[in-house]
Amino acid sequence: MSASAWLDDAILYQIYPQSFADSDGDGIGDFPGALERLDYLRWLGVTTIWLSPCFASPFGDAGYDVADYLTVAPRYGANDDLTALVEAARTRGIRVMLDLVAGHTSDQHPWFRASAADSDDHRYIWRTTPAAGWVASPGSRPGYYLPNFFAIQPALNFGYARRHPEEPWRQGVDDEGPQANRAALREIMGFWFDRGIAGFRVDMAASLVKDDPGHVETAKLWQQTRQWLDSAYPDRVLVSEWGDPATAVRAGFHADFFLHFRGRAFGSLWNNRTGTHDPSWGDGPCYFDADATGAVDEFLAEWRDARSATQGLGHVALPSSNHDFSRLACGPRTRDQLAPAFALLLTWPTLPTLYYGDEIGMRYLPGLPDVEGSTLGPTYNRAGSRTPMQWDPGDNAGFSTAPADKLYLPIDPDPNRPDVASQRTDPGSLLNTVRRLIELRRTAPALRTGGEVEVLHAGYPFVYVRGGTHLVVVNPAGERRAVTAPVGVWADLDSQGVTVADGEIVAEPVSYGVFAAV
Ligand code: NOJ
Repeated sequence: MSASAWLDDAILYQIYPQSFADSDGDGIGDFPGALERLDYLRWLGVTTIWLSPCFASPFGDAGYDVADYLTVAPRYGANDDLTALVEAARTRGIRVMLDLVAGHTSDQHPWFRASAADSDDHRYIWRTTPAAGWVASPGSRPGYYLPNFFAIQPALNFGYARRHPEEPWRQGVDDEGPQANRAALREIMGFWFDRGIAGFRVDMAASLVKDDPGHVETAKLWQQTRQWLDSAYPDRVLVSEWGDPATAVRAGFHADFFLHFRGRAFGSLWNNRTGTHDPSWGDGPCYFDADATGAVDEFLAEWRDARSATQGLGHVALPSSNHDFSRLACGPRTRDQLAPAFALLLTWPTLPTLYYGDEIGMRYLPGLPDVEGSTLGPTYNRAGSRTPMQWDPGDNAGFSTAPADKLYLPIDPDPNRPDVASQRTDPGSLLNTVRRLIELRRTAPALRTGGEVEVLHAGYPFVYVRGGTHLVVVNPAGERRAVTAPVGVWADLDSQGVTVADGEIVAEPVSYGVFAAV
């Protein structure tokens, strides 16, 4: 068994540090605040936390514009506060992963300031004449730099896969600047690994080598990085933001996410086009709509392809949502409809990834201002998925003691907003449902990540058997559905509105059930 096999049993939990828990009353989350909530995460069954970037930054893109990879942002605490969080998590059996923004830095990073002042510096990508999408040098160096996302995020130079006669400034992947950047990534990772970090989620992992058909050179870069990792830090993991597990896992990542911006696997499940939405993601219905017009086949087809390409090499990670996409509770999909979604997330062979607050059914909050670069388009404001965690029914939902107008983002003003404290004491709450499903996954080897699945009915309800022993029924439809049951006697392990009897599965509106062969 490999040293990083712990990922096989992981329940990942993404924390957006700004909004998780504020210990010092400045309205922004911090490490000591997160530390105080570790017992909650352990109670929930989370095994691994992933923190969105928490490094020094001007926060033009919520910290995805890093100004110093080796120093955390003062608003979250000091480096020692992060290591204290990591140590406190370790004593509770929880690992901590950070976010590696590999493709670009902030334009305030000293590397970029130096590059903008020195025409011989090749850590970034420069050209001498203007061109669409390139940004004028802010320094004494003449010319234009290539941004990787916003203009404030200059692309680090990892070289081009192809040279071009009219673009003599293109460098190859083996040139000095690109090689210095590769080495820098290893140094950054090693620095944090030596402080107990279990791995990284790698931002825009596909973006490194430019003009790279099929991502061939980008894949070589990550394969080389993986070789280094396996010999220097064999128990650490890299999980990519690529959105194409077949390519990313073969490029060396331990897992890659299904995401909203590539393919339809993720969108065909969750995207009801009422929160964040970009027309390029497709306009079809999604499976988790109560009007039952979606098709789980879309998800299945992509998952089967991804699975066969990654089997034995790594995992396909499925997030409940994330800081770039609507929460599960969004528009007409309310928290009362989320139990079947979590039943799928926590019984399917994909690596389950919970976005903070989804476990209590926090909703995507529409109509918020553009905060730290959250807005990407007229129908695309990520702020609605980044509001403060709702801990209790008290002031600021227990997130912070700051005045309400000093909070990073407003708290959901709904008087019926969900919160952790209220749901913990209610056995029928979404939170307790999620906790039970996590516990089931932990105790039943048949349900684990990467294990076998046989689909019996790909519709409403969605019916499958895991590992030959565990029958799962998921019905997001707002109406009752019945299908033939597999032969055998099935014991109810955990269900809401589903019965299996007399050769028939009956699924009430918005229901799920997990059963074991007797
Ligand atoms: C993907 C991150 O998830 C997103 O939040 C960020 O804005 C871009 N990459 C740029 O780093």
